[in-house]
Amino acid sequence: MSSIRKIGILGAGRAGTAIARAAARAGVDTQIASTRSPSQMKYHLLQYAPSTTAVYAHDIAADVDVVVLVVPQEDLDDVSPDWVGEGILVDATNRWEDEPLPEWFTTALNSGLSSSEVIAQQFPRTRVVKALNHISHWAMDTPRADDARAAAVASDHDEAAQKVAEVLALLGFDPVVADSLAAGRQTEPGTTYFNVAATSEQLTRQLL
Ligand SMILES: NC(=O)c1ccc[n+]([C@@H]2O[C@H](COP(=O)([O-])OP(=O)(O)OC[C@H]3O[C@@H](n4cnc5c(N)ncnc54)[C@H](OP(=O)(O)O)[C@@H]3O)[C@@H](O)[C@H]2O)c1
Repeated sequence: MSSIRKIGILGAGRAGTAIARAAARAGVDTQIASTRSPSQMKYHLLQYAPSTTAVYAHDIAADVDVVVLVVPQEDLDDVSPDWVGEGILVDATNRWEDEPLPEWFTTALNSGLSSSEVIAQQFPRTRVVKALNHISHWAMDTPRADDARAAAVASDHDEAAQKVAEVLALLGFDPVVADSLAAGRQTEPGTTYFNVAATSEQLTRQLL
């Protein structure tokens, strides 16, 4: 039996609502936030994720096991690390070539960090786990029946990584846990299994 009771989702766009739908199929509660108030999100969520509960962004971590970050990286100046506090943050974001990033993000990337390591610097009290970034929202909506349903989990916090692996299993994936947050670089855009289905064996080799 899973220990996961509720997932917070920060970002109510394509990825955020797909994660909410996948969680609903697994019988797991979710709450979701965006730049809009809960009442402003009402009709959007009725259409795209009717089972989720809308909350304000500053309440996203209240009473959840993990918070999934699915806000475009260009908007991260407006996301407060205080919203997640000391909780577990699943960084499902990606850096796109032409995305105009906040200056602190670009500076840290230029120093050689992966994008999730930059986010871990920006959220210093939070346990950051990179996951779900390489899975498209279409794949989240259509779990595969064959073995090509591996999903990476990369973190420097073992307990947090195990918790996120549980979340991925509930969503219909085979979690493959890497040994560091930095290893998650192997799932960024342009890598072999980004938006491409992989077996656990294939993804394990990629993360080495
Ligand atoms: N789409 C995919 O298949 C997929 C899969 C895996 C990972 N990702 C990654 O997830 C991230 C989001 O992608 P997406 O396609 O879901 O984008 P999207 O459809 O444009 O949705 C972005 C969401 O972020 C919200 N947002 C923006 N600024 C915010 C803030 N300051 N506080 C709270 N919420 C904020 C937006 O709020 P409003 O609704 O109020 O505008 C919107 O709901 C990207 O980094 C992407 O690479 C995407």
